[in-house]
Amino acid sequence: MKPSILVARAVFPEVLQKLAQHFEVESNQSDETWSKAQLTDKLRDKAGAFTTGTDRIDAEVLAACPQLKICANMAVGYNNFDIAAMTAAGVLATNTPDVLTETTADFGFALMMATARRMTESEHYLRAGQWTKWSYDMFAGSDIHGATLGILGMGRIGQGIAKRGAHGFGMNVVYHNRSRLDAASEAACKARYVSKEELLKTADHLVLVLPYSAASHHAIGAAELAQMKPTATLVNIARGGIVDDAALAAALRDRRIAAAGLDVFEGEPAVHPDLLTVPNVVLTPHIASASVPTRLAMANLAADNLIAFFTQGKALTPLNAA
Ligand code: GLV
Repeated sequence: MKPSILVARAVFPEVLQKLAQHFEVESNQSDETWSKAQLTDKLRDKAGAFTTGTDRIDAEVLAACPQLKICANMAVGYNNFDIAAMTAAGVLATNTPDVLTETTADFGFALMMATARRMTESEHYLRAGQWTKWSYDMFAGSDIHGATLGILGMGRIGQGIAKRGAHGFGMNVVYHNRSRLDAASEAACKARYVSKEELLKTADHLVLVLPYSAASHHAIGAAELAQMKPTATLVNIARGGIVDDAALAAALRDRRIAAAGLDVFEGEPAVHPDLLTVPNVVLTPHIASASVPTRLAMANLAADNLIAFFTQGKALTPLNAA
């Protein structure tokens, strides 16, 4: 008998078809928003799960699902998983690294450019019929080329953004990370390791690409924003909760920094109401990895993790040793 799995969110039909060759599949192809109780209920008799960042797998869920062996996340981030609880319950966790690196770095760079050059703010002005004449300082923003690019979190995506900045736009790249890169990786990114304080003080454009954890909660709050240049921009493509969104909205309103670009939010899909009222912020709905080829590659990798685990006893990109 085929093992039974749950696909917790809608996914590409061809990926569902591939899964159906190996598994009894229950899927949420209508993409309903399930409560934790509904997700738990659906998972109760399943051996595997295809999850996304919106599906929380914690000790409570695991306790109700003793047959569960693996959760394959269609995301590189996995803060929706309680990894310690999964390991304790003998449940393997997998994610989708590498396949989204370049697409997400493209988006981070695009969001930085849109933020610095005030693209959405000026588009709203145009659409509202307010553009009646040219003027010398209309939506004048800051330059990307030649500016100092600061990166907090220098993993694969951070390095992708650094390379784009250093090699494509002649940017001076500084970064801070839990651990310093080796000399060859620093040279490839033309990046200089600095303290967090120096990063905050020197960046013209600061991009956040670090994973969310208790340690990175509100890594950027009022105190950090106060250290940034008043002309600086801040981009968050990492996770909601890394930035204190209320403090950021206040800093943007008071022009303590020039502008922000946000793809992720505390409590998303809700967005802090103050962020919706300040003009100097570019807002996107958590789409940094959303190119069609990359989303397909992510879905295939999550599916292949399930297939490899059940057919060969070994997942492709495991996160724990369950
Ligand atoms: C998206 O946010 C991901 O973690 O893949």
